[in-house]
Parts: sequence; C-alpha cells; structure tokens
Amino acid sequence: MSEKLMRLDKFLSGQLAVSRSDAKELIKKRFVTVNGETAKLYDMKIDPAADSVCSEGVRLTYREHVYIMLNKPAGVICATRDRLSETVLELIPEEMRRKDLFPAGRLDKDTEGFVLITDDGEFAHNILSPKKHVEKRYFAVLEDPARKEDAETFASGMVIDGEEKCLPAELEITENPKEVYITLREGKYHQIKRMAETVGNRVLYLKRISIGGLALDESLKEGECREISPVELEMLKKGRA
Ligand code: URA
Repeated sequence: MSEKLMRLDKFLSGQLAVSRSDAKELIKKRFVTVNGETAKLYDMKIDPAADSVCSEGVRLTYREHVYIMLNKPAGVICATRDRLSETVLELIPEEMRRKDLFPAGRLDKDTEGFVLITDDGEFAHNILSPKKHVEKRYFAVLEDPARKEDAETFASGMVIDGEEKCLPAELEITENPKEVYITLREGKYHQIKRMAETVGNRVLYLKRISIGGLALDESLKEGECREISPVELEMLKKGRA
C-alpha cells in the first residue's frame, strides 16, 4: 500500500471534523462518492491527493493541516487542556476541531490577542524558533511613560533577570508614552513584562496584534476565531504586518 493511501472513514472524519462513527454513517446512507461511484466500504483505501471524494454532492478538498487565528481573551490559558482554567482549544467551535490541535506559542493568561492554533508541528516550530526571526508584535499599556532610552535598551539586546540575553527588540512609543508597540523575534517566558521591569516600568495591558506579516483580524471579537487562508499563511511566515 502506498504511504499516501488513507481509509475513507478516516479521510471523512478528518476533513469534515466528524467522529469516525458519523463518517461511517454517511457512507452507510450512501451519501459518499469516490470518483463518481457510491462508496460502500468504510475501509476503502483512497488517495487523498488524487481521488475525488464527495459527501452529499460536495467535493471535499483535502487539507493535511489546519491553521486557525484566535483572538484570545484575558483569563484563558494557552494549553491543550487544564483542570482549572478554560483553554484556547475550548474556544474552537466543534466544526473546526481536529485531532492534535495545539496553540503554537504561549501568551500569558492575562495577555490578549493573536494565537495561532494548528496541527502542523513543523510549521509551528518554524514560526516560534528564534533562528527564523518571525516577528511578533504587541500593543502594551505601561504604568509609567516609556522613555527614548528604553527603546535604545530594547534595541541593544538587553539582559533580563541578570542572566537572560534577549535578541534586539523594537519599542515604538506613541503620542501617549504609556502606550507602546513592541516587536519581538523570540518568545521567552513573560518576556515583555520582564523587559519592562528591567527598565523600571510595569505592563498593565498586553495584546499580540500580529505574527510575521499577518495582523490579527480586527473583525474577530474576543474569543472568536477563523481559519487562516493559504495566502495569509505565506504572509505569516515572513515580513511584518
Ligand atoms: N510577553 C509577555 O510578558 N507576556 C506575553 O504573553 C507575551 C509576551
């Protein structure tokens, strides 16, 4: 058997985000065709890239992985499961869920904004690795006004907590110097909060507004999500929004 071949019920459950037994039910009800022929066997082997599979007359285009943009609200944690707190995965609607979804990178519980959720481990690694220099941009409200010399410290590749060296980061001060934009190319634990503390300030509010060249969709309300298109995925990998 070619490595590319897949059982029909597995293909249907992955692409339609239904359980394996619901996929079998669709086949039993003769709703599924493969290359124009009604499918009869759940375990029929199909080639997802070459065969034309339709369910109730609608052709299913095979996608190996999914990529979701979530506007994370404060109070929700970036984990796949937790005993006490609500997780970002619980915010994904049933019809978008897939096996093996996870958040690519962590925002703190009180941080809001863009979280990428996927089942593509290699893609997530490439987005997160400091070596790939994918920019993550944040909007922050600080307790005290940011100063020009803070921007220079951020840009110099500062040391936090006396030992951790950061890559050069950008601090853009807006007209209201307590409101700033910060761009990182890595993701250390509580990084922005610790950088602010190192220059004697404190973060009161933090929101991630873009990853690479892809900005958080402003039409997404807190807690809402949508799939990222292939074109947007390319934007995400490079540049700046
Ligand atoms: N930096 C932080 O301090 N917290 C986040 O959630 C993200 C970046």
